[in-house]
Amino acid sequence: MDEDFIGIKNAAISFILEAEDLKSLEETKLQFLGKSGKLTLAIKGITKLPVEKRPAFGILANEVKNAIENALEQQEKILSQKRKSVLLKKIDVTNPGNKPLLGNLHLVTQAIEEISEIFKRIGFARIRYPEIDWDYYAFTSLNFPENHPARDDWETFFIKADPDKKMGRQVLSPHTSSGQVREMEKNKLPIKMLNIAKCYRRQSDVSHTPMFHQFEGLVVDKNISITHLKGTLDYFVKSYFGKERKSRIRPYHFQFTEPSFEVDVTCGVCNGYGCRLCKAGWLEMGGAGIVHPNVLKAGGIDPQKYSGFAFGWGVERVLMMKQGLELDDLRLLYSNDLRFLEQF
Ligand code: DAH
Repeated sequence: MDEDFIGIKNAAISFILEAEDLKSLEETKLQFLGKSGKLTLAIKGITKLPVEKRPAFGILANEVKNAIENALEQQEKILSQKRKSVLLKKIDVTNPGNKPLLGNLHLVTQAIEEISEIFKRIGFARIRYPEIDWDYYAFTSLNFPENHPARDDWETFFIKADPDKKMGRQVLSPHTSSGQVREMEKNKLPIKMLNIAKCYRRQSDVSHTPMFHQFEGLVVDKNISITHLKGTLDYFVKSYFGKERKSRIRPYHFQFTEPSFEVDVTCGVCNGYGCRLCKAGWLEMGGAGIVHPNVLKAGGIDPQKYSGFAFGWGVERVLMMKQGLELDDLRLLYSNDLRFLEQF
C-alpha cells in the first residue's frame, strides 16, 4: 500500500511538470484527484484495511494529496504566466489605438446656436413659447379673421381637445409668430425678442418636413420703421452668410404685417449672377414686415405711440443656403444617417 501512494505521487508530479498548457494540467488533476481519480480510489481503499493500520495510511494519503495540490498550483502559475506573454507578443503596441466614436452637435443645433449668438450681439433676447399653443396666438391675435382662407396656408395640426371660448382650439405651433402677442402681453416695452422654436405643419416632401425650426424676430419701440428692419436683415445676412452676401426685400402679403415683404439673399454659389441653384441670383429666405396695428392692439400696445417690425425665417432653410447646399432631400437632416451627419 505504501508503494501505491508513493507511485501515485511520483506519477502525478511528473505528469504535472510535463503539462504544456492549462487544459492538459486540468486533465491531469481529474486523472488523480477527480471522483474516480487514482488517488481518490486509493484513499477509498484504506477503509478495507484492518482498523489499526488505517491511521498511518490516512496520514500518508494526506501528504500525497497536499504534494499533488501544491505541484498543481505551482504549475498553474507558470502556465498562466506563459499564456499571458504569448498573448502580449501578438499585440503590436505600435499600432494606432481604436478611437471611440465622438459625437458632435446636430447641424440644426449648431445653426440655432450661431443665429442666437448673432442676434444677441445686437440686443435680441432669446425667448421660448409653448410648442402646443392656442389658435388665438397662432392666428386670431395675428389678425387672421375666423375661417379666413389664409389660415389654410399653415396646414395646421389641431389637438383633439375641447376649444376654449376666447383662445379657440389647441394647435401644434405652425410658426414662431405665435410668440409675438405672447411677448407683448408681458407688458414690457421696448421689445427685442428672438423666438427660435420647432414648428409643425402637415407637409412632407423633398423640401418640407412636418417638423422644422423657425427663428422669429420682433422689435417694438417708438419710431420703428422699415429702415430698422432692413438694417437688421443686412446685419444678419452679412454675419451669418458672409460679407459679400446682400439682402433685398420684395412686397408680399401676410395678415400680421403691413407692409409685408419676402426677404431674398444673393446666392452663395454664383454670388448673384444666376445659376442652377438660384436661377436669378437670389434665394428666398422668408417673411418680414412692419407689425400690423391690429396685432399691436391684440398685445395691448397703442399703435399710435409704438410701431414694430418682425421677421420669421426657417433655420433649416438658412442653414442649407449658407452651406450652398442643394440637398436632394431635406428629410436627410432628420433621418439620423451618420454618413451624412458626420460631415458637419
Ligand atoms: N410666420 C410666417 C410663416 O411662417 C413668416 C413671417 C412672415 C414671420 C412675416 C414674420 C413676418 O414675423 O413679419 O410663413
